[in-house]
Amino acid sequence: MRIILTGFGAVGQNLAKILRDENERFVHSYGFKPSIVAVSDSRGHCVDENGLDLDRLLKTKAEHGTVAKYPGKGEKGQADMSLIDETEAEVLVEVTSSNFHDGEPGLSNIKTALASGKHVVTTNKGPLALAMPALLELAEHKDLRFRFSGTVGAGTPFLDFASKCLARDSITGVRGILNGTTNYILTRMEAGSVTLKKALSEAQAKGYAEADPTNDLEGLDTAAKVVIVANWVLKRRLSLKDLEIKGMDKVSSEWLRKAKKNSKKVKLIGKIDQSQASVKLEEVPFSDPVCVPGIMNALSYSTLHSGQVTLIGPGAGGEQTASAVIRDLIDVRGEYTE
Ligand SMILES: NC(=O)c1ccc[n+]([C@@H]2O[C@H](COP(=O)([O-])OP(=O)(O)OC[C@H]3O[C@@H](n4cnc5c(N)ncnc54)[C@H](OP(=O)(O)O)[C@@H]3O)[C@@H](O)[C@H]2O)c1
Repeated sequence: MRIILTGFGAVGQNLAKILRDENERFVHSYGFKPSIVAVSDSRGHCVDENGLDLDRLLKTKAEHGTVAKYPGKGEKGQADMSLIDETEAEVLVEVTSSNFHDGEPGLSNIKTALASGKHVVTTNKGPLALAMPALLELAEHKDLRFRFSGTVGAGTPFLDFASKCLARDSITGVRGILNGTTNYILTRMEAGSVTLKKALSEAQAKGYAEADPTNDLEGLDTAAKVVIVANWVLKRRLSLKDLEIKGMDKVSSEWLRKAKKNSKKVKLIGKIDQSQASVKLEEVPFSDPVCVPGIMNALSYSTLHSGQVTLIGPGAGGEQTASAVIRDLIDVRGEYTE
C-alpha cells in the first residue's frame, strides 16, 4: 500500500514511528506492507515513489522543522494538488490542522485524492464538519474507501464500536462528552475552585489545550464530532450549520457549586436525538455513565434493544490518534483487496 501523507505534526510523526517500529507485526498479522511515498507539511514536501526512509524522514523533521530538507527528495514551499493527483499511490492519509471556516487545506486534499482514484483516511475534522455528506457521496460514487475513525475519540473507537458492534441493533440517540480540553477545564474549575482562565492555562501547560483554544471553548470541536457521529452512525446528513452550538461562555463557579450540592456536574454535552442535534452545557448526575472527569471522553448510545451502552476512553493524543489511522488503513486494505 503506497501512502501519501499530508500533514506531519503530532499525528503524522506518530504514524511514521509506528510504521517504522512495527513493520514486522503488520506484515505478519495482516499481510499489510505500507510504504509512505510522499509527505507534506506547511513549509514543503518530499517524494520518493520507491518509499521514503521513515527514520530519515523523522530525523529531518526534528532537525530542520520541515520535510522539505529530506536529502535529495525534498522541496521547499507548500505543495500544490499535483502532489496528490500525480503521485502514484493507493491511499491519502490527511492529517493537516482542522479548519472549521473553510475546511482547507484538508478539504481540497481529500477531494483531489478521491477524484484521482485514491482511498482516504483522515483525522482532520474540518472537512467532515463542513462537507461530510458530499464527501461520503463522492467516495461512494467513485467506489473508494473513506475512513476517519480518529476524528472522534482519537484512539478510543467510538465510531467503530457503533458501526461494527452495535450495527445489528437500532441506535436511537447519542450523547456524551467529546472534548477533553473543556472537560479538563470544568473538572479543575469544580475540584480546585479555580477560574476558567486559570484552568485553561493549566490545561495549556499540560499540553491538553492548544495555544488557540477557541474551537474547543466555543463548542465547535464537539459539534464537528457530533456531525461525524450523526452522518456515520445515524445516517443523518447533517453539517455544522444544522446544529445548535453553545460553548463555555455561560459557565460560572457558582453554577458548578450549585450543581454539586444536587449531586450533579456541569458538562459540555454533544447530543443527537430524533428531533435535534446540539452542543451545550448541561447538569449531569454523578451517577450518569457519561459523567467522566478530566480529559476523558464518554459517548452513550441509546439502542432499541440493548438499552444505553456507553464507551469511555481518552479522546486525544498524537500516538492514540495515529493508532486509529493504522486501524483504518488495515480496514481499507482488507476491503479493497477483497
Ligand atoms: N493530536 C490529537 O490528539 C488529535 C486527535 C484527533 C484528531 N486530531 C486532528 O488530526 C489532525 C492532525 O493533528 P496533529 O495533532 O498532528 O496537529 P499538528 O501537530 O498541529 O500538525 C498539523 C500538521 O499539518 C501541517 N499543515 C498545516 N497547514 C498545512 C498546509 N497548508 N499544507 C501542508 N501541511 C500543513 C502542519 O505543518 P507544520 O509541521 O509545518 O506546522 C503540521 O505538520 C488535526 O486536524 C487534528 O484536529 C488530532
